Amino acid sequence: MAFHEEYKAQILSKSNLPEHVAIIMDGNGRWARSRGLPRTVGHEHGVKAVKKIVQAAGDINLPLLTLYTFSTENWKRPKSEVSAIMKLLYKTTRRELNELLENNVRLITTGDIEALAPSRRDILKDAIARTANNTGLTLNLALNYSGRLEILRAVRNIVKDVAQNKVKADDIDDAVFTRYLQTNGLPDPDLLIRTSGERRISNFLLWQMAYTEIFVTDVLWPDFDEDDFFRAIIDFQGRERRFGKIKTTGSSKGS
Ligand code: FPP
Repeated sequence: MAFHEEYKAQILSKSNLPEHVAIIMDGNGRWARSRGLPRTVGHEHGVKAVKKIVQAAGDINLPLLTLYTFSTENWKRPKSEVSAIMKLLYKTTRRELNELLENNVRLITTGDIEALAPSRRDILKDAIARTANNTGLTLNLALNYSGRLEILRAVRNIVKDVAQNKVKADDIDDAVFTRYLQTNGLPDPDLLIRTSGERRISNFLLWQMAYTEIFVTDVLWPDFDEDDFFRAIIDFQGRERRFGKIKTTGSSKGS
């Protein structure tokens, strides 16, 4: 039974909507294997779940949704699977571009997309450019992304800037460091959802997730739907966030 209208109303009646939800979309392979299907079919069904969740995120006016689409470690999968995921990504971007435009979705990426095959990377860049002025949901695809590599690159660039006197070592604080990350300008995730029951961060947004609330569900990504997404948001809205401080008197619930 679908509860999403009810859940949506419940979410929108509260003021503490997350600003940024990040998702580790896990379980495509297991979803396929349990049906005796090739892993790539699991990824195809994963794309259907992506569509549903992007729509649902727009429905609750979520400002930013980051999807862990391809990690730098994912290159180590069999060649055929890597190329199937890449193909799916480009095909989907091309096919859904009009829908993104109609729904006022702005597409961005985090990660090293320059390393992707040029002809296909251009499809992504075109979609990013054409949706750049949209003002609704920002859909951020973490692509060829590694949290550690992102931090290492930031360190290398800071060291260079210190050597050139562009920044003083003693001035490097949270705010300065954040500017050297690929997510510069984006808020940290308020909520991380991981599907398929795994309880790992898997090199995702390591710096940015210092105070992120984590929601793990056993649902495999291709089965993850609007109701599951809304349930995660409702769970988040009921949490008390203290950011290392103690609870103040009065209600700090969800702050
Ligand atoms: C995790 O399942 C899934 C991935 C590594 C790929 C995710 C990519 C997509 C859903 C397609 C991208 C499309 C768009 C438009 C964003 P897994 O293969 O790790 O599953 P397993 O843990 O069960 O093996």
